[in-house]
Amino acid sequence: MNIAFRFFSKTGESVFAILSPLLLMLASCGINKEPVSFTPGEIWNDNKGVHINAHGGGILYHNGNYFWYGQHMIEGDEGNKAMVGVHVYSSANLSNWEDRGIALKVDEENDDSDIAKGCILERPKVIYNEKTGKFVMWFHLELKGQGYYAARSGVAISDSPEGPFQFIRSFRPNAGFWPVNAGEYHKKQVADSIKASYCGGKGCLPAHPDTLNLLGRDFAKGQMARDMNLFVDDDGKAYHIYSSEENSTTHISLLTDDYLSFSGTYARFFADRYMEAPVIFKTSQGVYFFMGSDCTGWNPNAARSAVAKNILGPWTELGNPCFGADSLTTFNSQSTCIFPVQGEKDRFIYIGDRWTPDNAIDGRYIWLPVELKGERFEIRWHDKWKL
Ligand code: GAL
Repeated sequence: MNIAFRFFSKTGESVFAILSPLLLMLASCGINKEPVSFTPGEIWNDNKGVHINAHGGGILYHNGNYFWYGQHMIEGDEGNKAMVGVHVYSSANLSNWEDRGIALKVDEENDDSDIAKGCILERPKVIYNEKTGKFVMWFHLELKGQGYYAARSGVAISDSPEGPFQFIRSFRPNAGFWPVNAGEYHKKQVADSIKASYCGGKGCLPAHPDTLNLLGRDFAKGQMARDMNLFVDDDGKAYHIYSSEENSTTHISLLTDDYLSFSGTYARFFADRYMEAPVIFKTSQGVYFFMGSDCTGWNPNAARSAVAKNILGPWTELGNPCFGADSLTTFNSQSTCIFPVQGEKDRFIYIGDRWTPDNAIDGRYIWLPVELKGERFEIRWHDKWKL
């Protein structure tokens, strides 16, 4: 390079001709690269200048790119229902997101379809199966016109992270299986009064879920599954985490090796704690952390957290991981994902939804750094922060 520089340096033009590729090369090596910054709660435009539309979302990292999947919302109150499908964006740096379109479309033709336009399709998450080479999407599904009664899990598959995903089926998890930590009382007879009951969540159950034996009630037809998430462990095993038993209790369920179904191995935690918006992540020390919310619909509340050495428990609750102003409302957000930054040890980012149910499309995203503190983690507000 030195020899070439001397040879060409007779004219300014030649110097420029040599220097510019050099500068370009340095820039692409990451030297002089501006750190990526985030402004939680602000409008976040995609490459087309449109506010990102991926609510209740999750992040998948694959082959040098991040993919952000979430609920595509439309204007108004109607926008909370699935009128379009699951939107996907891609990014190499977590800041500039390219619109990749609708990864999973709702069914506009057939009103009897499980994913008919107007159903409720929430919290979609995608994982990659190394063995099958397929991308697998799971989501919380409520059948059209039935409110939150169905409490099902939906699953879809694709050859590409951008989709199109093919819907496979929706169903209740673990029909005919007891969790590894079921009590003997669960296997006893269930009172008729509770058999056909329906409850939308916290406050409407007359007693503790174990006293009512909601687990036993749903044993044959499958356990209820509403707010959910996925977690793939270092050994390639994938888990589905969902609010069950009328939202009163969290279940963590091992998926089959192809990630397309429930294996029947699962455990239940936090009975009567009404945790929603579940998230699990794992540190390099092998510590599993859980984050979730209380159960107050679209209104924000104080988050919960827990720690475990084994994903199937026991889990120990740690309390609200948020600190500072607005920590009692999780900074006016509800958890949806905590994901690791690639190539950086123990660097995790929290994503929460700031819901705007009256005009669903306007919902904002709260991205904040997660601070690891040994056997616990903490989250603090930043107006603007850099990676
Ligand atoms: C929240 C839940 C959201 C959505 C909403 C509907 O508690 O986390 O995903 O289901 O209730 O009211």
